[in-house]
Amino acid sequence: MNIKLSLQQLVNLSGKTAIVTGGAMGIGFGIAYRLAEAGANVVIADLNEEVGNTAVKELNDRSWKAVFIKTDVADEKQIKDATDFAVKTYGTLDILVNNAGIYPIIPVMQMTPADFEKILADNLKSVYLFTKSAGEIMIKQGKGGKIINITSIDALHPSSVGLAVYDASKHGLWGFTKNTALELAPHNIQVNAIAPGGITTPGTGSGTPPTPEMEAILKKFMEKIPMKRIGDPDDIGKVALFLASDLASYMTGSQIVVDGGVLLS
Ligand SMILES: NC(=O)c1ccc[n+]([C@@H]2O[C@H](COP(=O)([O-])OP(=O)(O)OC[C@H]3O[C@@H](n4cnc5c(N)ncnc54)[C@H](O)[C@@H]3O)[C@@H](O)[C@H]2O)c1
Repeated sequence: MNIKLSLQQLVNLSGKTAIVTGGAMGIGFGIAYRLAEAGANVVIADLNEEVGNTAVKELNDRSWKAVFIKTDVADEKQIKDATDFAVKTYGTLDILVNNAGIYPIIPVMQMTPADFEKILADNLKSVYLFTKSAGEIMIKQGKGGKIINITSIDALHPSSVGLAVYDASKHGLWGFTKNTALELAPHNIQVNAIAPGGITTPGTGSGTPPTPEMEAILKKFMEKIPMKRIGDPDDIGKVALFLASDLASYMTGSQIVVDGGVLLS
């Protein structure tokens, strides 16, 4: 056995810079919080400027390093600006968390081609563009990197009617994760995914009153959870910290399911 680092060193992300897309709230903020706590310089890249700035303030108030850049993950130029901004601000880019995504409930029979394109643009094309832009920087830096893609249990099994195109985007993202893991392994860039089950976030209706459709889905979903609770963003934040750290030194092309056992039921 070859133990090189102490437990404390394994989870120490000081000197590393992480971009978290959609990090202003929900799961993304849960991830940004744990990475910042572990010492990383966190760049929150999100559409929502107001909530993004509040999120950064919450991290800065704890004396952790974080900045915000307004970014639409569907826009190639804004993605390039975000990765450049990370390097300009902190001098390095080491971790990319592709978390931003949307999950509108639209049955295929009612879906327009524009809806279809928007879901694929926000959930899948965005990850290709961000991976390319950050990957180029990481390869040039020559010190490896970590890419974490937030998929869903829907990347493996449908959770609800009305999410067919969402499911297609997340199945696609899982395939993309495995193949980019192969492509980037020679550069010591590890690419893994986290597949959350039901997590309480603004998107699923916490904070603001949930839509009746979302409320019905959550109620049905709750009955299927063996652990009998909905997940919290920190349940995902902790696993993201594991994948971003040296604890996950020999993992690439994996998907960790974090769902309270839902896929078993
Ligand atoms: N919440 C769940 O139960 C759950 C389950 C499985 C997977 N997921 C996945 O986790 C991710 C986050 O989900 P959440 O529930 O935290 O969502 P959320 O809606 O609560 O938050 C999403 C964040 O992403 C940002 N965002 C949305 N579109 C963007 C865009 N085009 N560019 C930049 N930022 C954008 C929003 O401003 C927001 O800050 C998504 O990819 C989602 O598919 C969520």
